[in-house]
Amino acid sequence: YGEGSQKIDYVFKIVLIGDSAVGKSQILSRFARNEFSLDSKATIGVEFQTRTLVIQHKSVKAQIWDTAGQERYRAVTSAYYRGAVGAMLVYDITKRQTFDHIPRWLEELRSHADKNIVIILIGNKTDLEDQRAVPTDDAKEFAQQEGLFFLETSALEATNVEDAFMTVLTEIF
Ligand code: GTP
Ligand code: MG
Repeated sequence: YGEGSQKIDYVFKIVLIGDSAVGKSQILSRFARNEFSLDSKATIGVEFQTRTLVIQHKSVKAQIWDTAGQERYRAVTSAYYRGAVGAMLVYDITKRQTFDHIPRWLEELRSHADKNIVIILIGNKTDLEDQRAVPTDDAKEFAQQEGLFFLETSALEATNVEDAFMTVLTEIF
């Protein structure tokens, strides 16, 4: 049993990964509390937030883990991935380098996580379209090659954040 006396049928652990400042913590904050902050501080170590939703008449508690993109602030990798059934691989559509690093994050994920983990590639900050540095088609093609789901989001405008989590949660389900 979780919040109040609500019965919880499933608890799903989802991890967020990607370079520093791509918006992982703000995506989480938007999903868990419907909040967004422009002066978000870099994450140190590991934090998590939960949100309980109803999917196909079952109550599902999503437990979302968020860690630092910066190497020096990262916690022990294997513990972070342990038990995760979903992963969100985030880059910033205005910073090409954050997309170019995605294969490295994917490699780390695949070497530490369960082989059946559901993965979604996320291009965040679509509200900054005029500064776009990563064409949607490049990311779509990469995702297809690697067998990942793909969506572009804006944590600021709350675009596709809910959809991104629902894509992962429904697929796990
Ligand atoms: P680390 O914790 O260092 O790994 O970074 P992070 O990936 O958690 O980034 P964070 O969520 O802290 O966001 C970094 C900066 O980008 C902050 O200034 C956020 O306000 C901003 N940001 C996050 N999402 C968006 C978005 O969708 N649009 C815009 N314009 N800015 C965003
Ligand atoms: Mg963070």
